Amino acid sequence: MSTLNEQKQPQPEEAENILHPEAALPEDARDYALRPARLEEFLGQAAMKENLAIFIAAAKERGESLDHLFLTGPPGLGKTTMARIVANEMGVDFTETSAPALEKAKDLVGILTSLKPNAVFFIDEIHRLRPEIEEKLYIAMEDYELDFVIGQGPGARTMRLPLKPFTLAGATTKAGMVSSPLISRFGISCRFLLYESADIEAIIRRSAAILGIRIDDEAAALLSRSSRFTPRVTNRLLRRMRDYAQVQKLQSITLDVVRGGLKRLEIDELGLERLDREILRMIIERYGGGPVGAETLAISVGESVDTLEDFYEPYLIQAGLLQRTQRGRTVTAQAYKHLRLEMKYPPPPGAPGAPGGSLFAGL
Ligand SMILES: Nc1ncnc2c1ncn2[C@@H]1O[C@H](COP(=O)(O)OP(=O)(O)O)[C@@H](O)[C@H]1O
Ligand SMILES: [Mg+2]
Repeated sequence: MSTLNEQKQPQPEEAENILHPEAALPEDARDYALRPARLEEFLGQAAMKENLAIFIAAAKERGESLDHLFLTGPPGLGKTTMARIVANEMGVDFTETSAPALEKAKDLVGILTSLKPNAVFFIDEIHRLRPEIEEKLYIAMEDYELDFVIGQGPGARTMRLPLKPFTLAGATTKAGMVSSPLISRFGISCRFLLYESADIEAIIRRSAAILGIRIDDEAAALLSRSSRFTPRVTNRLLRRMRDYAQVQKLQSITLDVVRGGLKRLEIDELGLERLDREILRMIIERYGGGPVGAETLAISVGESVDTLEDFYEPYLIQAGLLQRTQRGRTVTAQAYKHLRLEMKYPPPPGAPGAPGGSLFAGL
């Protein structure tokens, strides 16, 4: 018979999903309670909030729709949340879709013609729009009109259909893949940056209060260091820690709970999971600390180059453990320190895996 404790123990593989804000987890859908609904509840990104507050107030005063809004930045930082907040603050409807869901021009026409005045129309992954849809969107954004083809073949005619004013909110994690004609049609640009630790701690406290659990200060600090500066990861980790505290019948999330919980999830004190560490260790042990090309590295760790570049590298770079150079990837002295490996110049050929010591010794 298994005890409650055993049932609740997550398998180490789960850690990979928790730390990957780009891969939605079913529990994220139940995240509504944690999602800030108003600008003042949205923590961090101060400059962006200040600007938006002014633009929103001005648009409301004029009784107009807000300018089109371009939201860019890594996954899990609050782009969708902010688009919803803008609609709430404007007091208008919110309609949501994603570029891959807009398959045919008529999908777009259907949505645009049914929008209420000044509504916020959110398109996620806007870098993935089909060209013919993107062109329709240009006219819709600029003139609040739609090109409409009536009939078929030689007798077909193009009509212009008037639309009610609306705000297009386009979000992407890959701003570089959005065409410049589209970018130029957005009046307001919101660039999301990874959060400061203090903001993440504030988010932990806010979420804990909503979830109805206390968290000790040191516990919040450690959890914030392991959150990859990303609120979605913060909330996921916090929920797991709540589970651990609950099965131990504790009234609050203590430092011990977080230490033990992270260890079980194989997440270290810098928020690195197993594969993050493997990437660093591989560069150090097999390639003498680098530089090593992305393709070679991807093959060595058994991942695609895309996954390596989009999901693993940004955080390793942000955490000061990895550098992208012209000649490839290089680890920093900080990475050696973190893995507790000695720097070796030059690397012994085909060096076997040096023992790294316990990654959790400092926890
Ligand atoms: N600034 C913030 N303050 C509090 N919680 C936030 C903030 N930004 C994001 N979150 C939380 O993180 C989750 C992920 O945000 P989301 O808007 O879905 O990110 P994105 O669209 O950029 O991938 C939200 O559900 C919300 O709970
Ligand atoms: Mg989103």
